Amino acid sequence: MVKTIRAHTNIALIKYWGKADSHLRLPLMSSLSMTLDQFYTDTQISASDEDCFVLNGIRQKGASAQRVFSFLKVLQQRFGVTGHLLVESTNNVPTAAGLASSSSAFAALAGAFCAHYNIQLTPIELSRIARLGSGSACRSIYGGFSVWQKGTDDKSSYAYALDENPQIDLQLLAVELNTKQKRISSTAGMKMAQSSPFFQPWLLRNQQELEQMISAVKAQDFTAIGNLAELNATEMHAVNLTARPSFTYFEPATIKAIKMVSELRQNGIECYFTIDAGPNIKILSQLKNVKDITNKFVTEFENVKIINASFGPGISYLN
Ligand code: DP6
Repeated sequence: MVKTIRAHTNIALIKYWGKADSHLRLPLMSSLSMTLDQFYTDTQISASDEDCFVLNGIRQKGASAQRVFSFLKVLQQRFGVTGHLLVESTNNVPTAAGLASSSSAFAALAGAFCAHYNIQLTPIELSRIARLGSGSACRSIYGGFSVWQKGTDDKSSYAYALDENPQIDLQLLAVELNTKQKRISSTAGMKMAQSSPFFQPWLLRNQQELEQMISAVKAQDFTAIGNLAELNATEMHAVNLTARPSFTYFEPATIKAIKMVSELRQNGIECYFTIDAGPNIKILSQLKNVKDITNKFVTEFENVKIINASFGPGISYLN
């Protein structure tokens, strides 16, 4: 029987932004994320006469199909299995810039691969193989908060669950400001970022901020979580701006949104932002403030789309 695997996307509150080994996708830093309930990918794999990747009902050609099959080939070699595969995925993640679907996509693919070949893995082993497809995917094996410990080799680099059932009121407003596709992929951006003179300080800061974030999560301290997440994201974008050549994911609307978050805060509506490899922002807030924040963004931006997410579950079988 073909099994469908569902994996949810995650948003990093302490970012992964640099690789020690691009082939094995070993990161230069550990990272911490929150898995989201609203965004997920469903994937099933079955035997086929030829390799074929169908996404949202449309057969994919070119780079995206290539990335999927080069990942699956690596897994086939690793587990000593063969055969052409039909991969069918449905993405419930807005394709707009900034909401990385690669985390849910490769976590679901890793799970579907194991289901197809009847390979039994522990969550840590599954996290390790998902990492080979996209680094952030290794954190999507778990619900709630997870930590990707950078490790030193393939075996020691994986994510673990920090708190799968968080009790804290933490809302993530995904604000879609700009529907243009992102121009620089995460893979390319983090490579370019390493030329920044602030890259080494960023690695040190990241480690300190990770430790502080773990304490903040354990203490269920929304203010500390928000402050640290915003600081960490700002540092990631600072290394991009100071890279040689310099680049940024920010658009004018991104800057406007950042200023709005700080204005809201000054007016007593506590919220913080984080930004990934795209122009959109995600706002960390609490239930009582979701309405005011949403109203403010709807008033200030034309055609803005806002999705309110919170904690999502780990990887699961749908049938
Ligand atoms: C900014 O996991 O997409 O979202 O390993 O090259 O596929 P690759 O990168 P990817 O990078 C995610 C970068 C980020 C921060 C994060 O999720 O930690």
